[in-house]
Amino acid sequence: MNLLIQEHVSLKSYNTLAVDVAARFFVAVQSLEQLQAALAWAQQHDRAVLLLGGGSNLVLTADLDVLVIHVQLRGIAVLSEDAEHARIEVQAGENWHDFVQWSLAQGLSGLENLSLIPGNIGAAPVQNIGAYGVELKDHLESVFCFDRDTQSTQRLSAEQCQFAYRDSLFKRESGRRVILSVIFRLPKQAILQLDYGDLRGYLAEQQIGAPTAQDVSRAVCAIRAQKLPDPAELANTGSFFKNPVVSAEHAQRLQKSYPNIVRFAQADGQVKLAAGWLIDQAGWKGVRQGDAGVHAKQALVLVNYGSATGQQVLELAGQIQADIQQRFAVELEIEPNVLGQS
Ligand code: EPU
Repeated sequence: MNLLIQEHVSLKSYNTLAVDVAARFFVAVQSLEQLQAALAWAQQHDRAVLLLGGGSNLVLTADLDVLVIHVQLRGIAVLSEDAEHARIEVQAGENWHDFVQWSLAQGLSGLENLSLIPGNIGAAPVQNIGAYGVELKDHLESVFCFDRDTQSTQRLSAEQCQFAYRDSLFKRESGRRVILSVIFRLPKQAILQLDYGDLRGYLAEQQIGAPTAQDVSRAVCAIRAQKLPDPAELANTGSFFKNPVVSAEHAQRLQKSYPNIVRFAQADGQVKLAAGWLIDQAGWKGVRQGDAGVHAKQALVLVNYGSATGQQVLELAGQIQADIQQRFAVELEIEPNVLGQS
């Protein structure tokens, strides 16, 4: 097996926060066989491994004395279809947004609300990506992966993946499984989800009376572009914190002091708060410390204006967490994976 293992490779262009740390060893893999060879190499050389996809949910805090494996498996295949659905298998190295656009162009729907989310297919199940009231799990049939513990491939049903809000088995048992491909089951007849946030308002403003899935995708792209920075223009990892969930009593108390607080009742009686609102209210929006900053249009997104280190971004995040704890007695949990020695 011919593997090109490079040494001392900058990861700046492999993480959307554009942090400039180096990988001691780096290899790109385009097949399961290459992946297995790379894992075997790491074992022989007693090196830990970091699996990298689109790098869109990652904060790197130091050079990595590991073998970084960049998963580049490509391909999209229609497995089967009937009058109502098509089953599509997508390899882990395909770009998420390009796949969403491909599916819409085939007349398939379901993923329109998830347009423009950065990253690759292989990373999407890890945090069960979600936006505008739709989550990946809503249209995912199964995930094919390589289990490093058992050294064998595995197909996990959506249920076995244990998806939850920004969470999954892959995240909980981090590093154990390498996602190779995902099978989606997509409807031909669109069932649109328009109830979240600005979506319906935006479509009305554009005078789109009976929107198609493509219209919804265009609306989501436009709304995201207003608030969320394009990592190609301003480096970021999307939402830096999860939206916190608090007890109904806690939310009630907060609402007395802050009548405008943004809150969403949960099925279990608890209340989800908009972390972006809390951070904005606390005055952090647009704050910049060196090259690390809080995005001026969406306080939930931390950005790198150029040469911020992962540590500097985390330092800013720590100040925000402490302030939100003090003001609202709410704990903010960091959403992206933090990797590297401190
Ligand atoms: N808000 C503010 N100020 C801000 C930011 C938000 O007042 O600076 C308010 C908004 O006005 C709105 C509420 O907070 O009333 C929620 O904001 P928004 O609709 O922008 O969504 P979010 O809860 O901040 C979540 C996801 C995003 C996803 C959007 C749209 C999480 C952690 N984030 O953000 O996902 O795109 O909803 O569905 O759940 C990501 O995970 O990287 C991500 C971008």
